[in-house]
Amino acid sequence: MEYVFNKAISQMLPSKTVDLMNKGMEMRAKGIDVVSLSVGEPDFNTPMAASYAGITAICNNKTHYTESRGILPLRRRLAKKLKEDNGIDCNEMNILVTPSAKFALYIAIRTMVNPGDEVMLLDPSWVSYAQMVVAAAAVPVSVPLSFENNYTITREALESVVSEKSRLLILCTPNNPTGKMLTMEEAKILADFANEHNIMIISDEIYEKLVYDGNRHLSIASLPEVADRVITINGFSKCAAMTGWRIGYLVANEVVLKQIYMFYNHTMTCIPAFSQEAALAVLDCEKELQIMRDSFCARRNYLVNELRKLPGVTCHMPQGTFYCWVKMERNNMNSDQLADYLLEKAKVICVPGTAFGAGSEKCLRMSYAVPQAHLEEAIARFKKVL
Ligand SMILES: Cc1ncc(COP(=O)(O)O)c(C=O)c1O
Repeated sequence: MEYVFNKAISQMLPSKTVDLMNKGMEMRAKGIDVVSLSVGEPDFNTPMAASYAGITAICNNKTHYTESRGILPLRRRLAKKLKEDNGIDCNEMNILVTPSAKFALYIAIRTMVNPGDEVMLLDPSWVSYAQMVVAAAAVPVSVPLSFENNYTITREALESVVSEKSRLLILCTPNNPTGKMLTMEEAKILADFANEHNIMIISDEIYEKLVYDGNRHLSIASLPEVADRVITINGFSKCAAMTGWRIGYLVANEVVLKQIYMFYNHTMTCIPAFSQEAALAVLDCEKELQIMRDSFCARRNYLVNELRKLPGVTCHMPQGTFYCWVKMERNNMNSDQLADYLLEKAKVICVPGTAFGAGSEKCLRMSYAVPQAHLEEAIARFKKVL
């Protein structure tokens, strides 16, 4: 039988990060001792108070549909957090609680673009943005940024690819994969650019609490001149070790939110009450989250310092996230060849840079959301094969 599939969905490419995760699991199942630096989730447990709130919700029969936008106490608490931590002027009607940040991104993109529209992605950027754009029958367009310049966003880079069809720009800060954080100067450049070209901005801030060295996270929606153009996406997976609870949220002005909500309403209805209660509780677990951050910071320092000692390796100090973005010069290999070489010779899994955009031919992403012993083992193996 010949199936007829949706054309846009047929053009999507598989995720290299998921492929690598599966490859690592297969190798382990065969008894091969692999070290995986491809993981995108904290190796910490969800704070106990959050788990307890989730269990209590189930025991109290909070096992039915909830308010579709998300339970009111959670949306009110998030509005408070967004005002205090992010400087975003909002209330509970500007917030939609979603089953993960990923789904929030998907519905935001689907709501904002039409087939053939162009969506600007800062290169390199997280693997799923481009594919979600493709699924919406829109066209991902890379904004070329450079490793040498530590991926600083410039007006020239933005102007070099903008066109009449540009509708949306997706920003991620702190950035996966580079670990770079948005500066005020860059935010102003983006704001002026978006206003002049009538472009909406999706700002993915899922790593906002994983920042080090006293760096302060900046939400572009806190700039009043551009606030109405920004859809802020966030979630609990990375900063609160809650990947399995599948909960995120989206913030936008009421007109934009109403439209996204309509789509959401027909595709999801709501998310489980226990995940929402757990998320509400974790917003007051700052002490546990600080312990996790301190550990990531120590591992980051170790990994970067050791990587910098290896031949042909250059690496900026990541300001946030739990990833190191590494440039490796070795026999003119490209990033796929480098990742294959390290897997074959050292049995270490790294994500090739080209998974995040065409401009990262010599780069690899390495996660430090793994135990210190794994990092030490990976470094020892790199020393042998490089
Ligand atoms: C930049 C970025 N945004 C969104 C997500 C998805 O997060 P969630 O677990 O909430 O779907 C990820 C996960 O890898 C990510 O790295």
